[in-house]
Amino acid sequence: MTTHKVALLAGDGIGPEIMDEAIKVLHLVEERNEIQFELTPALFGAAAYFETGKSFPEETIAACDAADAILKGTIGLSHEESKKIPPDEGPERGALLPMRKRYDTYANFRPVYLPHSLAHFSPLRPEVIGQGIDLMIIRELVGGLYFGTKTEGIDDAGRRYVHEMLEYNEEQIQRVLKVAFDLARKRKKVLHNIHKDNVLKSSLLWNTILDEVRVDYPEVSVKHVLVDAAATNLCLDPTQFDVMVMENMFGDILSDQCGGILGSLGLMPSACVGPTKSYYEPSHGSAPDIAGQGIANPYSMIGSVAMMLEMSFGMADEAANLWQAMQSVFTDGYSTPDLARRGDAEHIITTADFGDKVLSKLATLPTP
Ligand code: NAD
Ligand code: IPM
Ligand code: MN
Repeated sequence: MTTHKVALLAGDGIGPEIMDEAIKVLHLVEERNEIQFELTPALFGAAAYFETGKSFPEETIAACDAADAILKGTIGLSHEESKKIPPDEGPERGALLPMRKRYDTYANFRPVYLPHSLAHFSPLRPEVIGQGIDLMIIRELVGGLYFGTKTEGIDDAGRRYVHEMLEYNEEQIQRVLKVAFDLARKRKKVLHNIHKDNVLKSSLLWNTILDEVRVDYPEVSVKHVLVDAAATNLCLDPTQFDVMVMENMFGDILSDQCGGILGSLGLMPSACVGPTKSYYEPSHGSAPDIAGQGIANPYSMIGSVAMMLEMSFGMADEAANLWQAMQSVFTDGYSTPDLARRGDAEHIITTADFGDKVLSKLATLPTP
C-alpha cells in the first residue's frame, strides 16, 4: 500500500468549511484505491497568527516540508479585520507568499471550465459560451511585482513615496514558458501569450525568451495578445482560448475575471507547481461575506484535490472520476447559492450537501 503525506492548511473564512469536504473525498479515494493518505492539519493564515503570533508558524513549515503535497484552503480577512494584523505579518505577505517562495511554486495552473450544458451559470449569453469554455491559465507565481524589490520613504520634496519593482530574470521566464508550451503541445497546439510589450520592458524580455523557447515547439502556434485586449476578448469570445500564459499579476487579475465568466469564483481550483513540491488551492479568497454559513461552493477545493491526485500522485483516472462526480451534481440540477438561478430555490444546496453528492456519485464510478 502506497502512503502519501498531505499537509492540510484549512486557513481562514470559508477555508475550513470547504476543506471538510475535501477531507471526505480523500477518505473515499483511500477506500476505493490501494493508497493511504497521511493527513497532517496545520495552522496557516490569520487563524495561525491569532493563535501563535505567526501566519506561517514553524510547526506548519515543518508539516509542509515533510509532506509530499500540500492542500490549502483559503486565507485572508475582510478589509476591516485585516487591520488587526501588521501588514507584513498578515496571511498574504506573512504566509501565502512565503510558502510560494519556499517551495518555488512557479507554475500556477488555473483551469477555466464550463461545459455547454452549464452555460446558464455564466453571465455571458449562451451563444457566447458556444460548445463550452475549456482553457487553462498558466500564471507565473513567484516573480514579478509580487516579489520584486520594494522601498518606501520620504522624497526630497517631503512627499511619501513607494517603489515596487517588476523583476524577472531569463530563467524564471523560460521555465514557466516551457510548462505552457508543454501543455499546449498536449492540448490544441495553440498558446496565447499575454503581455504588455508596448509599455513594459519586462514583457519585451518575456517575448524575447519566448522566441528562444518556441524553437523547441515548432508544432505549437503562438498568438500574442496584449493583456488589456485579452481582458476584452475573454468576455467577448472566451472559447477562442486554450492555453494562456502570463506573468504573475496579469494572471492574478485575468484568472479572477475568468471566475466571473464562469459565474462564480467557486468554480476555480488551482495547482501551484514547483520543482520538488506542489501545493493545491482554490484560486479565490476566504470569502468573508459568506463565511460560517455553510453555503460556500466546495467545487474549487475538491477540484484542487483532483489536480493533486493527478499531478502529485499520478492518479489521472481517479481524478477524472472526481471531475465527473462534481459535474454530475450540477447536471442533476443542484448548486450552491453562488450559482443558483432565480426561481431555482428548491435546488440550492449547502457546502456539505455538495460534498455528499460528490461522494455518492464517485462511489458508483468504477475504480481505475
Ligand atoms: P474572495 O475571492 O474571497 O471573494 C470574492 C467573491 O467571491 C465574494 O463575494 C465571495 O463570497 C465569492 N466567493 C469566493 N469563493 C467562493 C466559493 N467557493 N463559493 C461561493 N462564493 C465564493 O475575494 P475578496 O473578498 O476580495 O478577498 C477576501 C480575502 O481573501 C482577502 O483577505 C484576500 O487577500 C484573500 N484572498 C486569498 C486567496 C488565497 O487564499 N489564495 C486568494 C484571493 C484572496
Ligand atoms: C490569488 C490571491 C493571492 C495572489 C493573494 C491572496 C496574495 O489573490 O492566489 O490569486 O494575489 O496571488
Ligand atoms: Mn487572486
